[in-house]
Amino acid sequence: MCGIVAYLGHREACPIILKGLHRLEYRGYDSAGVALLNGELSVYKKKGKVAELENFLSDKDTHANVGMGHTRWATHGEPNDVNAHPHYSTSERIAIIHNGIIENYAALKTHLELQGHVFHSDTDTEVFVNLIEEIQKQNSCSLEEAVRLALHEVIGAYAIVVLSKDAPNQLIAARKGSPMVIGIGEGEFFIASDATPIIEYTNEVVYVNDYEIVVIRDGQLEIRSREDVSQTPYIQKLEMELDSIEKGGYPHFMLKEIFEQPRSILDSMRGRLELEAGHLNMGGIRAYEQKFINAQRIIIVACGTSWHAGLVAEYLIEDLARIPVEVEYASEFRYRNPIITERDIVIAISQSGETADTLAAIELAKSKGATIFGVCNVVGSSIARATDAGAYTHAGPEIGVASTKAFTAQVTVLTLLAMIMGQKRGTITDTKLRELMVELETIPAKVTKALELDAQIQEIAEEFKDATNFLYLGRGYNFPVALEGALKLKEISYIHAEGYPAAEMKHGPIALIDENMPMVVIATRDSSYEKVVSNIQEVKARKGRIIAIVSEGDTVIPAMAEYVIEVPHTSEVLMPLVSVVPLQLLSYHIAVLRGCNVDQPRNLAKSVTVE
Ligand code: F6R
Repeated sequence: MCGIVAYLGHREACPIILKGLHRLEYRGYDSAGVALLNGELSVYKKKGKVAELENFLSDKDTHANVGMGHTRWATHGEPNDVNAHPHYSTSERIAIIHNGIIENYAALKTHLELQGHVFHSDTDTEVFVNLIEEIQKQNSCSLEEAVRLALHEVIGAYAIVVLSKDAPNQLIAARKGSPMVIGIGEGEFFIASDATPIIEYTNEVVYVNDYEIVVIRDGQLEIRSREDVSQTPYIQKLEMELDSIEKGGYPHFMLKEIFEQPRSILDSMRGRLELEAGHLNMGGIRAYEQKFINAQRIIIVACGTSWHAGLVAEYLIEDLARIPVEVEYASEFRYRNPIITERDIVIAISQSGETADTLAAIELAKSKGATIFGVCNVVGSSIARATDAGAYTHAGPEIGVASTKAFTAQVTVLTLLAMIMGQKRGTITDTKLRELMVELETIPAKVTKALELDAQIQEIAEEFKDATNFLYLGRGYNFPVALEGALKLKEISYIHAEGYPAAEMKHGPIALIDENMPMVVIATRDSSYEKVVSNIQEVKARKGRIIAIVSEGDTVIPAMAEYVIEVPHTSEVLMPLVSVVPLQLLSYHIAVLRGCNVDQPRNLAKSVTVE
């Protein structure tokens, strides 16, 4: 939800900022802009992608060593040039970039208009910068002080960077609820929404905390609290590699990330599954082991694809550890006065670690005394820091807006967690545990085999690319996979798709079936196989077009389905890790064939930092 980047140092700022904006474009791509400070404070902005801003800048004088840029996912005001960031204050002496939402902007705007401030855009951000200007005027104070006082008046979420014509060689930044990381180089500083714009220049970073104000001035970094108390910056080493955020020869990040899954699943198991020694480890639960053993209930909160991973975890944890699990949309959970006790464990799942609803659900559960366990991909993210304990998914940076490798990494970590809990609670036999460990270790190779189906899936995609609707069916562990397959298709190809438990079809959706309705049925060999076969018969009798995902060697379903995709067989418990792969590929190819922008689908953003 909007990407911000800023630079102060000895290099040309504009190319660094533009490159950074390209890397952050996954966070929003409605418009982009830069502000450059070189005696003058110049703002350039354009509706559309960063590439359009680049074109626009090609004949401009962009020489400056200080500057900032923004790529927008619209919240207040439609995407156009005027609503694009950066925004000037009325005097055009101060400029701001902002990721987040100012909730009380309307009241502030009315007040500022009475003071003579003039607004050009429909954004809440323009109110913020005018508030800073007004406070500076009223108090005759420094820019830093004006920003600090302004933060006491705004309600909402923000990561901001502010530049002033009157404060050359100075960057002021602040955050609450939206991510911000500072890169520290040799005599230069970087600010960004995540570390991707920074890693090629330095691996020393500071993650800014909520309510902190960052002042970069005279070659120094200073961090102060909103109460104006100096804070000691905690400098961390970045472990990210540059290759991991580039396409590496693939036409799209999404395809690269789908193909990275054998590796990301393996990385998410590394050190946690030690087959030879017969050990399972998860450092994150060690301090809370007794809480897990005695938990009376587990509540999982997440959104979107992460919520689907949570549904898989519900099956896993109930099956292996025999603890009741509730899976909640974070956005609903937080607003419905849920019953939470100190004996509950809340598992929050999030790729980005920044999803506003998930973060708010965590805060609510914390206030009721529950123990919060995070499953996040982005190291140092807000959710990772808000939880009591957790386990990272080691999927590496996920840049394609549609989540793929993060899902399988989440399911891997949650599988391990369920196995460990089952072991500690004595609800799984040693033999069964050992079998699962052995099988889990084979999953990366099985996913590699599933990826070999790419050419076959591309042909199927050709056949169905013009469909207007799709149904996805699955049962048991494959039901969440059906939901995930449908979500992938709709978000990147704009084809309407629904996922259903296969047996539920009879209770309504069956009315939709005719010879034009493609049905993707996940019918791998498991305990509900026979039932799913019956469901396929029901679809066939109504002339629905069936694409079946089956276990290798299936001889029954090929006689019924129009297309059959054979995936390697694995234990029922682990099947989502394999059966989701052809669904990811199918959505990808259909979207490409329809000419859609798979990495940056319309209206979406990777990290949803607004409610
Ligand atoms: C779908 C997708 C979204 C996210 C959701 C939660 O492909 O990417 O549905 O899964 O916005 O995001 P995180 O996991 O970052 O909390």
